[in-house]
Amino acid sequence: MNRVSERRRIRCKVNGHDIDREVPVTQLLVDFIREDLNLTGTKRSCDVQVCGVCTVLVDGRPVSACTYLAFEADGAEIQTIEGLASGSELHPIQQAFLDENATQCGYCTPGMILATKSLLEDDAQPNRERIRDYLKGNLCRCTGYQPILSAVVLASERIRHD
Ligand code: FES
Ligand code: FES
Repeated sequence: MNRVSERRRIRCKVNGHDIDREVPVTQLLVDFIREDLNLTGTKRSCDVQVCGVCTVLVDGRPVSACTYLAFEADGAEIQTIEGLASGSELHPIQQAFLDENATQCGYCTPGMILATKSLLEDDAQPNRERIRDYLKGNLCRCTGYQPILSAVVLASERIRHD
């Protein structure tokens, strides 16, 4: 079979919902999420794992969906930015980004927030150096790094004192 037309079955959870689809073996996770599932909060830009705007969580770990094949997520739990809020209540990280004015154009924000979620699950009280280091794969073209840093600190405080 021509590899381009080969398909594989993928069963996974996306934002808590069961998904069972057949996908081309060459399909990227970012395209599966954006085009098949219509979850367009996940952005794409460089396509070469440099900018981080396509970051989603696969089993809680941040991955660049632009360099990850969709079928590799078979059996995994995927979280996108659409899965963070509870109804109309924003996740504390989203709220902290709003409160610290850490979004300008917003293009980097979904990936930045998901990477932050992974960081705070790993380290509930990261210092600024750790935050900078952890988020170094997430670029902000608007260069709003100081407010982003403040938002992560604020989110970690709020989550710890919740
Ligand atoms: S679009 Fe995936 S890292 Fe830039
Ligand atoms: S807010 Fe514009 S790229 Fe980060």
